[in-house]
Amino acid sequence: MSYDLIVIGSGPGGYVCAIKAAQLGLKVAVVEKRATYGGTCLNIGCIPSKALLHASEMFEEVGHLDALGIKVAKPKLDLPGMLAHKDATVKSNVDGVAYLFKKNKIDGHIGTGSIAAPGKVVVTKEDGSSETLETKAIVIATGSDSAPLPGVEIDEKRIVTSTGALELPKVPAKMIVVGAGVIGLELGSVWRRLGAEVVVVEFLDRILPGMDGEVAKQFQRMLEKQGFAFKLGTKVTGVDTSGKTLKATIEPAKGGAAETIEADVVLVAIGRRPFTGGLGLETVGVELDERKRVKVDGHYQTNVPGIYAIGDVIAGPMLAHKAEDEGVAVAEILAGQAGHVNYDAIPGVVYTGPEVATVGKTEEELKAAGIAYKVGKFPFSANGRARAMLATDGFVKILSDATTDRLLGAHIVGKGAGEMIHEAVVLMEFAGSAEDLARSTHAHPTMSESIKEAALAAWFKPIHM
Ligand code: FAD
Ligand code: NAI
Repeated sequence: MSYDLIVIGSGPGGYVCAIKAAQLGLKVAVVEKRATYGGTCLNIGCIPSKALLHASEMFEEVGHLDALGIKVAKPKLDLPGMLAHKDATVKSNVDGVAYLFKKNKIDGHIGTGSIAAPGKVVVTKEDGSSETLETKAIVIATGSDSAPLPGVEIDEKRIVTSTGALELPKVPAKMIVVGAGVIGLELGSVWRRLGAEVVVVEFLDRILPGMDGEVAKQFQRMLEKQGFAFKLGTKVTGVDTSGKTLKATIEPAKGGAAETIEADVVLVAIGRRPFTGGLGLETVGVELDERKRVKVDGHYQTNVPGIYAIGDVIAGPMLAHKAEDEGVAVAEILAGQAGHVNYDAIPGVVYTGPEVATVGKTEEELKAAGIAYKVGKFPFSANGRARAMLATDGFVKILSDATTDRLLGAHIVGKGAGEMIHEAVVLMEFAGSAEDLARSTHAHPTMSESIKEAALAAWFKPIHM
């Protein structure tokens, strides 16, 4: 069988690329080694984690309805039921991708794909049989997997990555999370809400590195109020698994006396690394960069003509929507159009309670770049809708260019921040200003009015402060 395009990997990058290319008239196949389509995101990432985040948030909220004048009995956890909700959510999403492949006449090949030569992909099935497919172009969309912690062996039962943490059969009494990044704080939130005592051990002296420092600091305080304990500037050097409880040895990152902390489960969430194993990249001579990511040019093409790469396996934020947009861009490029991704306006969301959402530059980045900027802030405690919903934790921070007033960054900590951020994303896509945001009518009463007020604060003065 001969194709215009073969995509290796069916995560958000790969499956979206395949659908877009098929819509543009290309004959497309996808090779996926997992039994279901959708990649990390749909099977063991974004989707199952959000199912558990929502369910655990409901569980916790039901226990705190008194303040709204609602009396309910203490909620009881049905963990198998909650995990079944997660599994059903995953199934409906991965089935949805299979349906979209059929609808767009995309051939799905289940098996491990390797590149024998430009234009030749070998698919090896689980039973060892293989078939060679021919194609004009190949897109590598093989994603990433969790980074290992030296000296700590993952068994996915007691010492887990995010994958094991999505299916613990029992709520651990005590959980150590290694890494105060997105996975650690999201999955730490799930198990804390369900009853675990959570200690987060982070190498750096702050949480959520890369995010705006003020946002991270205030957010950390909110998490501490919820019961999270943080050991910052600390590293885990080993975990003793011999006893009934795990004993983790920790010590200051800069060196110093070691101590031991006990836990039932240790979640290792110290980042993810690009996944290129078994692809045969050495054989065809596809170059990797210093962090073992596939190196691509501005058109997502590798150094080997006809071989492209997108998503977590190349440089940039490891986010599903970034992978999707690159998938669309490369499909357009292959169809002779001008595919493009605006890396200055990619939002990032941490789906905790409250959520953290951010787009564009942080204050630290603007300072480092020597750009003169204005800051506008507005707390949800001054927002009527937030008060009505008892959702006053958090604030909006708008960063704009001091000379041109152009919006450079937006950072939100608050309930629904992940939905609200998109007005800033669209505005930035159109190179809008803080004044544009401040003059746009926002429905009252909404949480989003705080964005308008923060923009007013950056441009001139807020009304409600
Ligand atoms: P992947 O989704 O990793 O897909 C790659 C696919 O390629 C896999 O299915 C793999 O089996 C397949 N593959 C690999 N090698 C081969 C081969 N040789 N042959 C055939 N198939 C192969 N991002 C967000 O934006 N929002 C979130 O809320 C979010 N939550 C997350 C939660 C968790 C717990 C995790 C782990 C990640 C989360 N992410 C989230 C990150 C997101 O999952 C990734 O950024 C995204 O999946 C990357 O998409 P991709 O298409 O590049 O790769
Ligand atoms: P991360 O990069 O977000 O955070 C890893 C954290 O571990 C960092 O704070 C880092 O300083 C720390 N760390 C590294 N080595 C350490 C060590 N030895 N000891 C202690 N701490 C150490 O990585 P994470 O949370 O594993 O997530 C991986 C990727 O998945 C991220 O890039 C993220 O973008 C993506 N993701 C996105 C989500 C979302 O968009 N909501 C949800 C989950 C994952």
